[in-house]
Amino acid sequence: MARAKKTRLSPQAAEYRHQEKTPARPDVGTQPQFKKRAPPKTWRYDSSLSPALEWDGQNAAREQGEALIAELEARVRELRTTLAQQISPSFQPSPARGEGKKGKTGEAHEKKTPSPLMGEGGGGGEEPRRLLDEAEEALRRLKALSKPFLNWAGKAERLSFDVPTLPLFIHERLSTRAILETLKGHKQDKQLGLFDLFADPQRPIHEQVLRAYEYQDQWVNRMILGDSMVVMNSLLHYESLGGQVQMVYMDPPYGVKFGSNFQPFVRKRDVSHNDDDDMTREPEMVQAYRDTWELGLHSYLTYLRDRLLLSRELLAPSGSIFVQISDENLHHVRELLDEVFGATNACPILIFQKTTGAGSPSGRTDLPPVTTDFILWYAKDIERVRYKQVFAPKVRGEAGATQYDLIEIDGKRRPSTAAEKANPPYGGRFFAHDNLTSQTGGPTTQFEVEFEGKRFYPRKGGWKTNHEGMERLRAANRLFVVGESLRYVRYLDDFPCSVVTNKWDDTVISGFGDPKVYVVQTTSKVVERCLLMTTQPGDIVVDPTCGSGTTAYVAEQWGRRWITVDTSRVPLALARQRLLTATFLWYELKDESGGPAGGFVYKHRQNEKGEEVGGIVPHIMLSTIANNEPPPEEVLVDRPEEAKGITRVSGPFVVEATIPTAMDFEEAAPPSRSSPVKGEGAKIRGEGAGEEGTNFLDRMLEVLRKSPVLRLEGNRTVTIENVRRPAKTLSLSAEAMVANGAEKPVAFVFGPENGAIAERLVYEAAKEATAKNYAHLYVVGFAIQPTARQLVDSCEAAIGISATYVQATPDLMMGDLLKNMRSSQIFSVCGLPEVALRKANRPAHVVPPQPGSTAGKEAWYEIELLGLDVFDPVTMEVDHRKGDDVPAWLLDTDYNGLSFHVCQAFFPRTAAWDSLKRALKGEYEDAVWEHLAGTTSVPFEAGEHGQVAVKVIDDRGNELMVVKSVKEAK
Ligand SMILES: C[S@@+](CC[C@H](N)C(=O)[O-])C[C@H]1O[C@@H](n2cnc3c(N)ncnc32)[C@H](O)[C@@H]1O
Repeated sequence: MARAKKTRLSPQAAEYRHQEKTPARPDVGTQPQFKKRAPPKTWRYDSSLSPALEWDGQNAAREQGEALIAELEARVRELRTTLAQQISPSFQPSPARGEGKKGKTGEAHEKKTPSPLMGEGGGGGEEPRRLLDEAEEALRRLKALSKPFLNWAGKAERLSFDVPTLPLFIHERLSTRAILETLKGHKQDKQLGLFDLFADPQRPIHEQVLRAYEYQDQWVNRMILGDSMVVMNSLLHYESLGGQVQMVYMDPPYGVKFGSNFQPFVRKRDVSHNDDDDMTREPEMVQAYRDTWELGLHSYLTYLRDRLLLSRELLAPSGSIFVQISDENLHHVRELLDEVFGATNACPILIFQKTTGAGSPSGRTDLPPVTTDFILWYAKDIERVRYKQVFAPKVRGEAGATQYDLIEIDGKRRPSTAAEKANPPYGGRFFAHDNLTSQTGGPTTQFEVEFEGKRFYPRKGGWKTNHEGMERLRAANRLFVVGESLRYVRYLDDFPCSVVTNKWDDTVISGFGDPKVYVVQTTSKVVERCLLMTTQPGDIVVDPTCGSGTTAYVAEQWGRRWITVDTSRVPLALARQRLLTATFLWYELKDESGGPAGGFVYKHRQNEKGEEVGGIVPHIMLSTIANNEPPPEEVLVDRPEEAKGITRVSGPFVVEATIPTAMDFEEAAPPSRSSPVKGEGAKIRGEGAGEEGTNFLDRMLEVLRKSPVLRLEGNRTVTIENVRRPAKTLSLSAEAMVANGAEKPVAFVFGPENGAIAERLVYEAAKEATAKNYAHLYVVGFAIQPTARQLVDSCEAAIGISATYVQATPDLMMGDLLKNMRSSQIFSVCGLPEVALRKANRPAHVVPPQPGSTAGKEAWYEIELLGLDVFDPVTMEVDHRKGDDVPAWLLDTDYNGLSFHVCQAFFPRTAAWDSLKRALKGEYEDAVWEHLAGTTSVPFEAGEHGQVAVKVIDDRGNELMVVKSVKEAK
């Protein structure tokens, strides 16, 4: 099978590939050319649920309610008149609907003249039907008014809300198999198919630009940086994903305290919530926090309801949403779900054990510890919900198997001893006795049975079977006497599984090989159960609260397609590492060429002891023995056939973002004093946010005035004064004088509030600053694109003015959140990762090209990460970190200037790759893996673009990237 060959390139490392198609998203770097911009989408709530419509004498509710009643009455009156005229002039409708049918006159007329309402007469029935529909709608809304609802500050005003409609750009392409291939010395090359390993269709730029979202590419799983609401809106608008998602798993922050919601460091799981040092400083996160928690619980409810509404749009008719929550807000969130999904679509609340008793007091140590969390589960449509029962192994003595106290051993039956219970003896069969009689019985089930010298007769009703069936039970040795009753013998192994109910006690310990990396990580088993109950292989699963990627990890394990979203870089860095380095079992596919959507293979299998170990298990019951029928079979969805000897790794996945990383400069000119348009500065954010943008520019200027010290490389500082907006500027944001510096002023350009500075911004600002004879250009922002950074560094030679990139610390966004923020030294200069690109020898394990081969002259390179300047916003100091003191760094050996292909991924001084290393023992030398836990790459050959890119992830999840031409190699 062709596909089998492709998905199992190496016999030991294989992956699942999904064959479904998906609209092609453009690569990052093509944003300025992206033409399919769309206005913000307005989402509306059902106004009949508006909290303004309360039934009390004080507010508008009564008035509105009365208007609705009047409307209803008018429609009904109209309807009656119309009906009366259409049916017969002599027809006298009775006052209430339906009553006329009972009257003799009505009956006679209805027979002669079919009612248009009934649709029998054809034609003429449209108007009454419409009127009736309107009447019923008014009635429905009235009824909704009479129901109690949850109200909170701001709800009444939010009958609708706008969400920016932003495209998603692919920033990174990741493939564990591609990494494994580059470790073998394979070049990222079209012939060798490495692009195929990344599932990169290699669309030319003009296609990406002109026809973004028009092509259909092969599906790849997706990790998206951005606010879940913006991302879901994008999926709905640009990809028409509405109605296609089978499951949404949402694990929002439980509480409303700022500090308790985030993990600010990649490598520090224990967060002290009161510690200023432990606060997150990611601009996106701070903004999300401000939007979400400003009014405490009130904004929390607004935040959740909006996201639930969009989740509902995404769900397929048979889909489900699971919302994980603690007891603190359980009741509120349930109200929200009732409101958005409808109370009738509620499925059982799932209760799962999160800790054992110790260590999780409920806040007061004199009250019981809280050991459980909850999952609120709603179907999109309860009538159509996809649900598959899951089973857990039946363990004697535990829930569902507490009655199996008797044992049958050496042909004898007796109570089991404590020792036997603790250590079941070989050949022993535990059993329980069960009722043989039924309340309802007929003559065929009422008869005398003689057994072991005693006579038995069913007291009430009859036996559960007839005479013949009873003889079969006797022959199968299923009869047993307890006192004066004849009972049925039910063996523990008649069905070795128990039904999983809504209470999950076995969820405390996370699976082996899946350790906790994130402070609020959900145990995989919890997500796994939800997924197995409600989805099939190949289905789409969305998690708008990715965290460390548990849903993605579980979905990958079970061959589901996944999309996961987080607004924070720290969890995404963790999730990326978790997926990239994970190993999974290979479950046999029914149709390998069709991918997981064809389903897994399940078989009936027993081990040497005769125990059922396959995924299809017979369910022996009294009725099957009595009726001499083969027992029905249950499919244990979590037990597909495993192929031994294959290590499965994650399939290719991409990292995307909504964050407008680059600005279309023509549309988003930086603000200027001369600008006639109020709030023009807003465009700098790329989202047309009106006032806010001006506020951002004002804030930046204000802070620049208050903290006029810029920290430059080499511990130098520059103090500026007289900060002001330049007159008549096209692209500059500010000008200032340098204290004790040149006579001429220096110019400033500010990058966007929510994205990275683009090359174009630097170019335009530098041109203007040169023309206006400024002494220097400072390019200030929270992040900068690699090409923009390169232009800053070569600005003097290229454009004629020296320029410096100045990193604004995200503390700027924190304001009052960071109480002891020192307002000085807000701006620093952030160094780039320091890397060395060297020529290297061909690795020993790589086979040299055949003499006369067309492979060309080999040239091997290696990259070493020497270090990184890290700015600490708390101490306000720049700290130089050695290369091995970063959580992760990534290498693209043939950077195309657009998306980053992760050809090698390094997690220095960690055991991140150990599970794969163990699984692939023998395939690679240990030295190869040592590279991936260090600072020097595995030697590689350059690709067609002649440049490599190195991306370093710092402890706060920030990504810093450098690009080097291979010509620079020493
Ligand atoms: C409780 S954690 C989820 C943990 C996850 N279940 C796991 O197993 O790791 C909630 C996550 O939601 C993210 N988050 C909060 N608000 C968000 C938003 N508006 N959009 C996207 N992600 C958000 C947070 O950054 C955090 O990582």
